[in-house]
Amino acid sequence: MKRLTLMALALATSFTATSSFAKNSLNVICSTDSEWCKLMETAFEKETGIDVALVRKSSGEAFAQIRAEKRNPKIDIWWGGTGDPHLQAAAENLTQSYTADNSKGLLDWANRQATQADNKTVGIYAGALGIGYNANILKQKGLPAPVCWKDLANPIYKGEIQVANPNSSGTAYTALATVVQLFGEEEGFNYLTQLHSNINQYTKSGSAPIKAAARGETTIGITFMHDMIKQVKKGFPIKVVAPCEGTGYEVGSMSIIKGARNLANAKQWAEFALRPDIQSMAVKAKSYQVPSNASAVVPAEAPKLSDVKLIDYDFATYGSSDVRKRLLKRWDTDVKSLPR
Ligand code: F6P
Repeated sequence: MKRLTLMALALATSFTATSSFAKNSLNVICSTDSEWCKLMETAFEKETGIDVALVRKSSGEAFAQIRAEKRNPKIDIWWGGTGDPHLQAAAENLTQSYTADNSKGLLDWANRQATQADNKTVGIYAGALGIGYNANILKQKGLPAPVCWKDLANPIYKGEIQVANPNSSGTAYTALATVVQLFGEEEGFNYLTQLHSNINQYTKSGSAPIKAAARGETTIGITFMHDMIKQVKKGFPIKVVAPCEGTGYEVGSMSIIKGARNLANAKQWAEFALRPDIQSMAVKAKSYQVPSNASAVVPAEAPKLSDVKLIDYDFATYGSSDVRKRLLKRWDTDVKSLPR
């Protein structure tokens, strides 16, 4: 009898613990810059009283974690990061459909991202890829300013360029997919092998190369233009180049994880993150992407996408599971493994 009472007590306690966990917490994986992740975490906690446990991971790494935890999801919502791996997660059924009330105010490109993934993801911001360089270092070294993607393959830039690894970084995967779309797959990979000879380091995070350029640790970085602007705003001599051949772009996305333990809270975060006032806060974290809500304030510093020659980036193809996996594998074997 005493044992039964104890068991009942234990069950009741664990039930209360689980339900209070469910009511008051939210596990977020965040793939924007850490400053913006932190700002969102604090603002959401303040407004809702929900306790947020947030980890920052680059887009490819976040995707890998979500896939690895498929049978026992630890994350409730994935906020930020390039759209391709979010689309891959949707295709692999790792995320679940949710149409937020606040998606009514979104721009077409953000809703298009949702439509092509059965509403398992949605666009939260956009940004274009570019070439950034440290003007002082470039001058000291007597190097010409790059203007086109093809310029970066010139041996004069040997050891001067940094980009992330496309397996971990969504930025670098966008660059890989952009080159393939611009030049075709064979010529694109040929270009990437030439570029490889000029790379001093493949970083884990996509924005790391331009931070390194700001510190003078590399001359050139391939990143999103808004990440370059962040360094300009911090006072570093970074110049932003929109490549002459045209460039790719991201639709930064958000997805609710299938089997999320704190589903109601995840939906609350999704509504929160699509609100114009919340998207307009990004500037406080020196994040200059173009927001997806039509009523959000576009930061004055945000690169004007209408002034950039953007390619017609094929998100359906390059966000598909087969193509992303195949291109990454080919990059590992045909590019990364070559001596530099
Ligand atoms: O927050 C900066 C940012 O460039 C986002 O615009 C983008 O979605 C994300 O970082 C990509 O990061 P990573 O390349 O590390 O996956």
